[in-house]
Amino acid sequence: MSISAGPEAAASIHPAPPAPDRGDVPVLDVADLTVGFGSAAKRRSIPLQGIHLQVAASERMALVGESGSGKSLTAAAVLGLLPEGAEVIRGSIRLDGEELIGAPERRLRDLRGGRMAIMFQNPRASLNPVLTVGGQIAEVIRVHGDAGRKESWTQAVDLLAEMGIPDAGRRAKDYVHQYSGGMAQRAALAMALSCRPDLLIADEPTTGLDATLQQQVLELVVEQVASRDASLLLITHDIAVARSHCERTTVMYAGRVMESGPTSSVTESPKNPYTAALLKAFGTVDQRRMYAIGGVVPTLVGELSECAFADRCPMVGPECRDGVPALRSVDDRQVACVKA
Ligand SMILES: Nc1ncnc2c1ncn2[C@@H]1O[C@H](COP(=O)(O)OP(=O)(O)O)[C@@H](O)[C@H]1O
Ligand SMILES: [Mg+2]
Repeated sequence: MSISAGPEAAASIHPAPPAPDRGDVPVLDVADLTVGFGSAAKRRSIPLQGIHLQVAASERMALVGESGSGKSLTAAAVLGLLPEGAEVIRGSIRLDGEELIGAPERRLRDLRGGRMAIMFQNPRASLNPVLTVGGQIAEVIRVHGDAGRKESWTQAVDLLAEMGIPDAGRRAKDYVHQYSGGMAQRAALAMALSCRPDLLIADEPTTGLDATLQQQVLELVVEQVASRDASLLLITHDIAVARSHCERTTVMYAGRVMESGPTSSVTESPKNPYTAALLKAFGTVDQRRMYAIGGVVPTLVGELSECAFADRCPMVGPECRDGVPALRSVDDRQVACVKA
């Protein structure tokens, strides 16, 4: 099912590209997702404009883009947690084939605690400050399985220990404010995994941590997701993180997907000039910040009528202003650039 609303839907110019042929139904299948703030009559902005994103079973997908490109909003839409004032204008979000747009809130709540889970940049956002860390993880385990009170506590402690929390039996009785940043993020991962999700969405999970801890926590996330055969959607502004941790990468810019495909080809031979610019700006730790992409991410007040990157693109030509480039298959990936 796709929902649509009024003239904006009729004006849709973002046809869905053919799904990549990877056999099974993707765990996550987002098609033409368009999200606006305000009502149809009084639209304030349209920060997502026709997002296409697929995550296959057991796959690690990075969602990369500069700050403000719409990554967190995409995650919020998938989880059914769009901020106040935001609405889906059109599009489809399927989890294991089940349509989430228009699904009852109760169903979304079940899925959030069951088949999909999120880790935020701030781990304290995932954990309740007035409950012990172990207590709240045990509660999730109890609700989702048939373990009793004692057994679920033991499982919570084991899970915390598995996430690298030292002396987990004792630390499980602490509150999250008693944990350091790195430990809190490990606890948030335990919390996210406690419901055995098919899909873990991690939204800049290590941005607040120092470099050594970032690496450790990311490695832990990847390892734990892999050992559970789950899928990972790793959101990051840093394409180097995508390169180290995910086999596929989707690059977003200004509410659009610019390029998506195997991380190695997207990062070694980008086909969209935006991906190339992002690589130049964030490609390696040494180069970081030596190059900045000129201009700023535009605020999308109305529907785009040209390539979102046209004003900043070094390769821009008149054809780039002839409508919004559709995401289309080119070789091993999908690209939204008329020159690709
Ligand atoms: N609550 C909100 N109200 C109005 N605009 C918002 C809100 N949340 C996000 N936006 C807008 O949506 C766009 C995408 O934001 P976001 O998804 O947070 O970007 P990213 O996670 O890539 O940094 C931004 O232009 C931002 O200003
Ligand atoms: Mg964000």
